[in-house]
Amino acid sequence: MSRRDKELNFIPVLIVIAVVLVFIGIGLTVSERYSKKKATPSYASTDQTFENKVAKKENDKVDKEEKNNVVANNNKTKNKTTNNVSENNSISGENKNTTTNTTEITKSSETTTSNKNRKIDEKKPMVALTFDDGPNGTATPKILNTLEKYGVVATFFDLGQNIANFPKVVKREEELGCEVASHTYSHKNLNTLSTKQIQNDLNKAIKAYENVLGHKPALVRPPYGNANATVKKAINYPLINWDIDTLDWKSRNANKILKEIHKYSDYDGRIILMHGIYDSTADAVAKLVPELINKGYQLVTVSEMAKYKGITLKPGKVYLNFRK
Ligand code: NI
Repeated sequence: MSRRDKELNFIPVLIVIAVVLVFIGIGLTVSERYSKKKATPSYASTDQTFENKVAKKENDKVDKEEKNNVVANNNKTKNKTTNNVSENNSISGENKNTTTNTTEITKSSETTTSNKNRKIDEKKPMVALTFDDGPNGTATPKILNTLEKYGVVATFFDLGQNIANFPKVVKREEELGCEVASHTYSHKNLNTLSTKQIQNDLNKAIKAYENVLGHKPALVRPPYGNANATVKKAINYPLINWDIDTLDWKSRNANKILKEIHKYSDYDGRIILMHGIYDSTADAVAKLVPELINKGYQLVTVSEMAKYKGITLKPGKVYLNFRK
């Protein structure tokens, strides 16, 4: 091979090297962009898959129990009348000054509205969305994203056993100005337990709660809404039930959830029951929140609604709504 031939052979080699370099360049740019996108983790990814599985198993179990009990509970709820006394509020302060301890949670970058600086006008209608049985690592963060997007809040009646599994989600609930309340530790039907068993379960729940949030809850929602005389006497917290049941656990369908809510037209002072563990519920919430805002409702926590409706919440008393 002559020298000239060697030089001629070298040209295509140079071209190949140039092409390879260009491809490497493109590759680096793409991977850099991708990793930037990933740098803001979704809240769903913060808890481990194993934990998700455990919680799902537990939630499914809870769900089965709930199906058995909800019919009885609905009948009971319908027959109840609310006899709320109008007095000055005294409980709402407890949960408010505790929203500073969540530094490890990355805030979502877009449209971060400060839910905490909301101004509530007591003359305008208000409604309380409530989410039971959570948190989990998928649906609960989606619900929180919607609340954050619109700068509104809700109340989460979390289970002690899930609080321990998803501490970051619980902290985010509170960080966004939502009220985190207790739904007991293990979701037992309290009507079947002794005073001691009820208190043991609740104390365990409160401990799990304190471990994560550093303070006690202000409210308790008994599983299935069941609170007989023993339960009321055993629990030294206001017992918060609901007056609109979305049956979200049953339909697992966003449109059907909205349909249940649309059976009512006046939501002022009402407490809406949903479950923070279903994606279908999260989808419904994404439509419900802007709809309620457009209709002029303020979305508030249960404690806020009691306060602004002039109701003093009493331990051992069951509340279904704060309507006058
Ligand atoms: Ni429940």
